[in-house]
Amino acid sequence: MTISTLEFNRSWITDQKDHLVNTQKIQFYDLHTTRNEFESDILKGLAQRPAAIPPKYFYDSKGSELFDAITELPEYYPTRTEIGILTANAADIAKRIGTGSLLVEPGGGSCAKVHILLEGLKPQAYVPMDISKDHLRLAAEDLAIAFPWLEIHAACTDYSREMRLPPNAPKGTHVAFFPGSSIGNFNPEDAVVFLTSIAELVGSEGYLLIGVDLKKDKSILEAAYDDAQGVTAEFNLNLLTRINRELKGDFDLTAWQHKALYDEQRGRIEMHLISSAEQTVTLNRGSLNRASFCFRQGESIHTENSYKYSTEEFISLAAQAGFESDALWCDDEQLFSVHLFRQCLSET
Ligand code: AVI
Repeated sequence: MTISTLEFNRSWITDQKDHLVNTQKIQFYDLHTTRNEFESDILKGLAQRPAAIPPKYFYDSKGSELFDAITELPEYYPTRTEIGILTANAADIAKRIGTGSLLVEPGGGSCAKVHILLEGLKPQAYVPMDISKDHLRLAAEDLAIAFPWLEIHAACTDYSREMRLPPNAPKGTHVAFFPGSSIGNFNPEDAVVFLTSIAELVGSEGYLLIGVDLKKDKSILEAAYDDAQGVTAEFNLNLLTRINRELKGDFDLTAWQHKALYDEQRGRIEMHLISSAEQTVTLNRGSLNRASFCFRQGESIHTENSYKYSTEEFISLAAQAGFESDALWCDDEQLFSVHLFRQCLSET
């Protein structure tokens, strides 16, 4: 693990009285996924049938940029709806949790939504964890400008594999913030495992504040994952660009098509890349690890699931991980939900 302290020189920033504000420290912890994990996951995923790639690999720096663009699309309602819910209920959230907590955000790569909570919650420190190092660093720096009083411990890590706090993080009631319905990208069994690791991280009496997308009409869901401007298609295809670049691949991007469909029975959006012709793709060209994969016309690489839950379904899922419901907020159109849970695992 590498820990670096960024001497954050904000001498060009002035407060309202035009005085210079203090220099601030941000701690960075580099626990990054290695290239080999990426390589072995991709080789394994392309060899299996149906082929599948874990959605966490969408988020190289281009993928993170494209995801940010998705969140602003007219069809992609989750982000603006969740922001509306958090904004309308920030005071209530702060009243329930109290000030001085240690606020941890797995996947807090853009630190965007936490802005809404910080003034009310006044946490002792904020710990964003994200797989995309550059994205995390820029976002942590922006956050430090907006909240000069905030202590930030930013950890570059694959939180889906490892959930541990940086060594220098201060104590306090632990609150995990997991917005954006990222929990929907786990299958339900893995979601329970992941939420259990959050329950262990926040400890007894700790909290989980989590955004969860609700079940709704198929047409709204499918439009949200196949937008008219084609940004989601570009996001999906960027995975192949990343593989070509990082693993010397020869994916022909014109021979793959983005597809999003809602499986009502499973309650999930599925994203796929569909091969538009019979083709062979080779990775690690020119090396001993060279590997080729054949695809028939119409064959798919399954790139993402995004599960949707009713409020009752999600409360019972969280209960399996040791959380009890403390509060629940939804928007008027019942598009999205934000749950506050309290950890109720007995101490061992
Ligand atoms: C990050 N995650 C919650 C997004 C979702 O809605 O499942 C990822 C995404 N994929 C396509 N559009 C957005």
